[in-house]
Amino acid sequence: LRDTYLTQIAAAADEAALEAIRLAAVGKKGEIALKMRELGKMTAEERQVAGPALNALKNEVNSAIAAKKAALADAALDERLRSEWLDVTLPARHARQGSIHPISQVTEEVTAIFADMGFSVAEGPQVETDWYNFDALNIPGHHPARAEMDTFYMARAEGDDRPPHVLRTHTSPVQIRSMEKQGAPIRVICPGRVYRADYDQTHTPMFHQVEGLAIDTDISMANLKWCLEEFVKAFFEVDDVELRFRASHFPFTEPSAEVDIRCSWEGGQLKVGEGDDWLEILGSGMVHPKVLQAGGIDPSVYQGFAFGVGIDRIAMLKYGIPDLRAFFDSDLRWLRNYGFAS
Ligand code: PHE
Repeated sequence: LRDTYLTQIAAAADEAALEAIRLAAVGKKGEIALKMRELGKMTAEERQVAGPALNALKNEVNSAIAAKKAALADAALDERLRSEWLDVTLPARHARQGSIHPISQVTEEVTAIFADMGFSVAEGPQVETDWYNFDALNIPGHHPARAEMDTFYMARAEGDDRPPHVLRTHTSPVQIRSMEKQGAPIRVICPGRVYRADYDQTHTPMFHQVEGLAIDTDISMANLKWCLEEFVKAFFEVDDVELRFRASHFPFTEPSAEVDIRCSWEGGQLKVGEGDDWLEILGSGMVHPKVLQAGGIDPSVYQGFAFGVGIDRIAMLKYGIPDLRAFFDSDLRWLRNYGFAS
């Protein structure tokens, strides 16, 4: 009996098997208990031999079970340590990281360059009244420039007596807001989103501009020219540039000029400062006296220059991106291709 049990105990594969053996051997209804009950039917001599033997057997089986139980627990722990082992020296799994969008990056570049020249940043609403977007900028209701702008008008409910609103077609309304807010002198740039109903390879209904405005008692076109030259050199990272001021017309500047930069194209990549091509990059001029007046500034004391640059346009030029629409598709493969995402 003893050998049978000790062999079974040694062979038990897990705690459940061990418990089954324990019940069968030393449980209340186990084999050894039954044998002990039989002691009563024995003679005194027989009992004196069998009693201690059965007790010893019971003790031996119990301690064998306890020992086996401890051994099984040890083995289970070893197994866990083996299977849950972690190699902390393995290289980390690569997580893709988000990164700044090219338009945001260019906006920051432009802002930083003008900040170095003493310009601070001003912002205005994208939903603008037609007064700020047009009238205050010397574009009255009948002016053809209103039609040219492909304006998005906000729908109006019957009986709505608020002034008509539009999605701003340029950042120029921020000129007026800045004049009203801080008075002269002013040196601000105003980056932001603008909207026109237009869509092709170089036009999206939403795009970005940065407006520049400097007002003081002694401001001339020469200051404008210097600022723009410094800006173009810094932005395109070249030592020398040549700008061409082409007479133009904007209702809110007089005189007005469109500004081109001397450049060449090499294999689709723009080279600024050399070559025989001219590339238009912005509109500018001296702030029209009527505009100063609309902003509450006395045109007999102050003058100013203003300019408006297409951020998306100069981003396309700087980074050699042919299709404007791709900027706003949120296609990670495209962003990665131009090095704007990892
Ligand atoms: N607002 C003009 C445009 O959107 C640009 C501009 C700004 C021109 C300031 C002159 C002065 O085209």
